[in-house]
Amino acid sequence: MNNVLEFMGQDHDRLDKILEEFRCTKNTDVTRAVALFHDFMAVLSRHIVWEEEILFPFFEQKTHMHDTGPVAVMRIEHNHIKNYLEKIQNRILAKEINGIDELVCGLMELLADHNAKEESILYPWIDRETSDKEREDIISRMKNSSME
Ligand SMILES: [Fe+2]
Ligand SMILES: [Fe+2]
Repeated sequence: MNNVLEFMGQDHDRLDKILEEFRCTKNTDVTRAVALFHDFMAVLSRHIVWEEEILFPFFEQKTHMHDTGPVAVMRIEHNHIKNYLEKIQNRILAKEINGIDELVCGLMELLADHNAKEESILYPWIDRETSDKEREDIISRMKNSSME
């Protein structure tokens, strides 16, 4: 695969599926829900690291847009996403898994909006502005970065 949109879009889809399964099981199978949320945090954290350490710096270096532009917005949204993760995680740790629907729905809405912007603006831009070799390097760096 030599296409950032496809590679990252698949990761978004994978994350959406895990979060949806978490939402559906959290009131009926707490053990499974906790395991799902753990997976979700691990996959999303790796995804955000790929973006913040590989894709965004590439964009910033090519465009010279550091504190403005789409990447600046994406970084702010990542902080909002992390706030949601922390709040949900705290509820889970406190065994207050019931009543977190509002947080989960808020996170889902934020991610839907955020991912749509990345898939319509940022990833296609990177695919357009890179040579085949650059894209290959970017994708292999992401594939080779281990999951914490
Ligand atoms: Fe992102
Ligand atoms: Fe993303």
